Order: sequence, then structure tokens, then C-alpha cells
Amino acid sequence: MTDYNIAVLGGDGTGPEVIAEGVKVLKAVGEKFGINFNFEYGLIGGCAYDVHKTPLPDSTISLAKNSDAVFLGAVGDWKYDVLPPEVRPEKALLGIRKALNLFANLRPALVFEELVSSSPLKPEIVSGVDIMIVRELTGDVYFGEPRGVEVQNGEKIGFNNMIYRENEIRRIAHAAFQTAMKRSKKLCSVDKANVLDVSRLWREIFVDVAKNYPEVELSHMYVDNAAMQLIKNPKQFDVIATGNIFGDILSDEASMLPGSLGLLPSASLSESGLGMYEPIHGSAPDLKGKNLVNPIATILSAAMMLKYSFSLEIEALEIENAVKNVLKSGFRTEDIFTEGMRKVSTSQMGDLVAKSVLCA
Ligand code: IPM
Ligand code: MG
Repeated sequence: MTDYNIAVLGGDGTGPEVIAEGVKVLKAVGEKFGINFNFEYGLIGGCAYDVHKTPLPDSTISLAKNSDAVFLGAVGDWKYDVLPPEVRPEKALLGIRKALNLFANLRPALVFEELVSSSPLKPEIVSGVDIMIVRELTGDVYFGEPRGVEVQNGEKIGFNNMIYRENEIRRIAHAAFQTAMKRSKKLCSVDKANVLDVSRLWREIFVDVAKNYPEVELSHMYVDNAAMQLIKNPKQFDVIATGNIFGDILSDEASMLPGSLGLLPSASLSESGLGMYEPIHGSAPDLKGKNLVNPIATILSAAMMLKYSFSLEIEALEIENAVKNVLKSGFRTEDIFTEGMRKVSTSQMGDLVAKSVLCA
């Protein structure tokens, strides 16, 4: 029997609830295919701060580094908003991405036919959308130094630095081109090269890396236009490559194509092969403990783990098909509920998907 060790970091708010459903589905896959998934739990975010006075304890980083993959819920809760920035839960998320060198963040926005009516956009616009956003995750204005708030000439100024090194752009470009090679060989690089110097370098490097992938059709788009085109005509996109901050914003926007943040999974990959898998949504602390949130983004993140970290393609597909079957049968969590459908809780959705995996 093959063994895989998974570090499970539920985090704060509804993070542990959605992670529990992802673990449930992974266990079903293990049972069906004779795979041993070993789950080892650790703390990250506010819950880690409560115990260790830091949102990212060393023990969590070593647990992650000694695992075959990391499965993360979400971090953050309003009660931690009063903490100084260096120990805020969000800092832990950025910290673990950096510590594990997870530079390539894959965020698929796939519209399930069953959910076309859940999107706030017209069916003819969203039906058939299948986009992969490749977001750079360890650079940009998120990490650029210097940063801070200072007093200058009696006035406060706040500043961050948008910095990309050539090598950082090169490796995300390769990741994006390789992703495009496995899909429809169309890559759109999104930047703000009409204004930002860092974007001009970004574009230059993408054009250079493109020489290694002659089959891929590379295009460029300014981020403001991309934000508009994503709503106007999302089907023009296949793979989108962009920097950390633009990718953060565009991926939340793209979640409205399928209709809910609760549907979008993500994979964050390093050069060493270690990957972290998490839904793109936040911790939704107001919904904590209510068994209301949608675990599908997390369950689909588990499928991405099987595919990208363990090369278990068939098993990953099994999860995706189980999600589709459950949706086809009319089950909906609150966020994607429409008239005539059957409303289910977080844990019921997890049970249904796990059952569908086992019965398929
Ligand atoms: C995301 C989140 C994070 C980010 C926050 C919570 C730090 O919005 O994963 O998209 O900005 O990257
Ligand atoms: Mg975000």
C-alpha cells in the first residue's frame, strides 16, 4: 500500500470545517483505491497565535516540510485585527508560502454546467468557462522591501514595493507555459506595462521565455482591461499568468464566473515538488460553527493535491466527478442555492461527495 503524509492546517474561522470535509473525501478515495493517507494536524493563523504567541510556529513549518503535501483551510478572524501586523494570521499564510517557496499558485475557474444559473452573470457568458490563473505567489508588493508607515515632514506615509527579480519572473513564466502546454496552448500574461517598470520587465521576460515554447500562443493584456474582459468575455481566456497582487484580485473576480468563492480550489507549488492546497476563499469567521459554508473549493483542492503532488490523476478525476454528480443530483450549499434545489449543510455536502466517490 502506498503511503502519503499530509500536513493538515485547518486554521481559523470556517477553515477547520471545510478541511474536515476534504479529509473525509480523501479517506473515501483511500478506502476505494487502497491508498494510505496519513493526516498530521498542525496550527496556523490566529489559533496558533493563541497557543504559541506566533501565527506560524516553527513546529508548523517543520511539519509541512516533512510532509508530502500540505492541506490548508483558511486563516484570520476579526478578533485578531487588534494584533500588530507581524503576528496577524494573514502573516502566517504569507510566511508559509515563502518558507516552502511556493511560487506558483494555480487557481482554476471552471464553471460546472449544473451551476450556470448560480452565477450572477448571464448563462451565455459563463457557460463553458474553463480558465487557469497562474499567480506568482512569493514576490511582488506582498514581500517587497522596504515597506512600512513612517512620518516624513510631519505627515504619515505608507509604502510598499512592487519588486520582481528576473529569475522570479522566469520561473513563473516557465510554470505558466508548461501549464499552457497541457491545456489549449494559449497563454495571456497580465501586467501593467503601460505604467509600471516592473511590468515592463515582466513582459520582456515572458517574451524571452516564450522562445522555449513555440507551440504556445502568448498574448499580453493590461490588468485593468483583463478585469473587464473577464466579465465581458471570459471564454477568450485559457491560461492567465500574472503577478501576486493582480492574481489575488483577478482570482476573486474569476470566482464569480462559477458563482461562488466557495467553489474555487488552488494549488501552490514549489520547485522541490512540495505543494500546498487550499480553497481561495477566506475564513468567513461570521459563519464559523454554523455548518453553512461550501466545502467544494476545499474538496477540489484535495483533488488538485492528488493530481499535482501524488500524480494520482484517476483518483483526482474521481473526486471531480463525484462533485459534479452531487451537483447534478440537485444538492446545494447555501451560497449556491437556487429555487427547486436541495439545500445541504457543509458536512452533508462532504458526506454526499465521499459517498459518491465510494459508490461510483
Ligand atoms: C488569497 C488571500 C490571501 C492573499 C490573504 C488572506 C493574505 O486573499 O489567498 O488570495 O492575499 O494572498
Ligand atoms: Mg485573495
